[in-house]
Amino acid sequence: MVSAPFIPGSEPELHSVERLRALQLERLQWTVRHAYENVPLYRRKFDEAGVGPDDIRSLEDARKLPFTTKADLRETYPFGMFAVPMAEVRRIHASSGTTGRPTVVGYTQADLDVWGDLVARSLYAAGIRAGMKVHNAYGYGLFTGGLGAHTGVERLGAVVIPVSGGQTARQAQLINDFEPDAILCTPSYLLTIADALEQAGIDPTRTSLKVAVLGAEPWTNEMRVEIEKRLNIDAVDIYGLSEVMGPGVASESVETKDGPHIWEDHFLPEIIDGETGEVKGDGELGELVFTSLTKQAFPVIRYRTRDLTRLLPGSTYPAVRRIEKITGRDDDMIILRGVNLFPTQIEELVMGMEALTPHFILELRREGRLDSMTVRIERHPALSVEECAAATNVLKHRIKQHIGTTVEVVLEEPGTLPRSEGKYKRVYDLR
Ligand code: DLL
Repeated sequence: MVSAPFIPGSEPELHSVERLRALQLERLQWTVRHAYENVPLYRRKFDEAGVGPDDIRSLEDARKLPFTTKADLRETYPFGMFAVPMAEVRRIHASSGTTGRPTVVGYTQADLDVWGDLVARSLYAAGIRAGMKVHNAYGYGLFTGGLGAHTGVERLGAVVIPVSGGQTARQAQLINDFEPDAILCTPSYLLTIADALEQAGIDPTRTSLKVAVLGAEPWTNEMRVEIEKRLNIDAVDIYGLSEVMGPGVASESVETKDGPHIWEDHFLPEIIDGETGEVKGDGELGELVFTSLTKQAFPVIRYRTRDLTRLLPGSTYPAVRRIEKITGRDDDMIILRGVNLFPTQIEELVMGMEALTPHFILELRREGRLDSMTVRIERHPALSVEECAAATNVLKHRIKQHIGTTVEVVLEEPGTLPRSEGKYKRVYDLR
C-alpha cells in the first residue's frame, strides 16, 4: 500500500499568514459557539461580559471574551467544563497542582488525533524521523507528558520505547542496550540520567542519542549548552500545558533553536499584562494566554497560563509566531527583600562555572524580619574542595552583580542533593 508521505509541518497554514488567519477565524468562531452552547460556565461568563458567539467577526474580537483561569477549572471540578457528553470522551488527564484539587481535562478521539499530529510535528521539527527509536522518559499516567509524547511518536511512524520516569539506573541500561536515537524527558531529569550513565561506566557523550526534546519545566539556554556538551546531542525545547492540550502546544526547530513555534493553526496566543489584563503587542513581555481553536471535549477560551514570555516572529515555520524560551511563571517568582528573581536567573549564572555542577536548590528563610536565600550547590566531583569553595564566592558575587541581592552559597558534596525524576523542585520556602 502506497500513501502520500507524511511530512508534519508542511501544512500551508504554517507558511502563509493569510491562510493561517482565515483558518484561525473560522476555527475561533466555531470554538466560541461550541463553548457557549455546551459549557454553562462559559455561557454565564460570556453573558456577564455581554458578548456572544455572533460578536466574533474578526480575530481581534477575541479580546472581548472574558479570561479563563485555573480557579474556573477548580470551581467546576471534575468535569464541569467538558463540552461533550462523557460517551464521546476517550481519555482524561489531570495535573497534580501543588495545592488543592487537581485540574482535570478530557479529550475526544478527534482531540487525541490532533494531539498526536501536533506532537509528531514537534518531534519532526526536532529532527526525529520515521523509523528512529525514541526513549520516552516523561511520566506515564495522569500527567500529559508520557502518553501525550507517546501518541506523537507513533503518529510520526517512529518507534516508541515507553520507559516513563523513575528507576534511573534502568534508564541508563536501556539507553545503552536499545540504542535510541532520541530521548524525551524534562531537562533536569536528563541531567539525572547523565549521572546514572556515568555511574554505570557509560560515557554520556558516546551513547546512540542524537537529540533530546525537553520541556515541562523552565530551563535556560545556558542549561541547553550544558546538556548538549554533557551528552553530545542537540537539545530542543517543547512547551505545553494540560489545560490547553499537553506537550506540543509549541515546539522548537533543531535548525534554529530560537524558541518554540506555537502551532497557531490550533491555538491562538496572546500576551497580556498580568495585572491589568490589557493585551500587549508582539515582542513585549507578559503573561501568555491561549484560546484553543479545534478542541472538542475541553475548549479553552483565553486561558491564563501564568507563564511569562513574549511573542516573536516565526522562523522555520514563517506564518506562526514563536515564544521566547520561557524562563519562569509568575508563581515561581521569588521576592527577596524587595528584589524579584526567578530560579532560572540563578541557573543562568551557575552554568559554565567549571567547579560547580547544575545540581542546586534554593532555600528561603526568614531571620527576624528579614528574608534570606541560600543556594545549596554540589561541587564538581573531579576538583578539589578548595577550588570549588573559591567558586562559591564568585557565584555569590555574580548574583549580587546581576540580580542585585545578597545570598548565601553553600557547597555540597557530589550526589547529596535531591535529584530530579520529572519536574524538578528547586525552591524550598521555609518561611
Ligand atoms: O508539563 C506538559 C508538557 C509535558 C510539556 C512534557 C512539555 C513536555 P503541565 O503539567 O500542565 O503540563 O504543566 C504546564 O509547565 O504552564 C509551564 O509553566 C511549564 N512548562 C511546560 N513546558 C515548558 C517549557 C506539562 N518548555 C506548565 N519551558 C506550563 C518552560 C514549561 N516551562
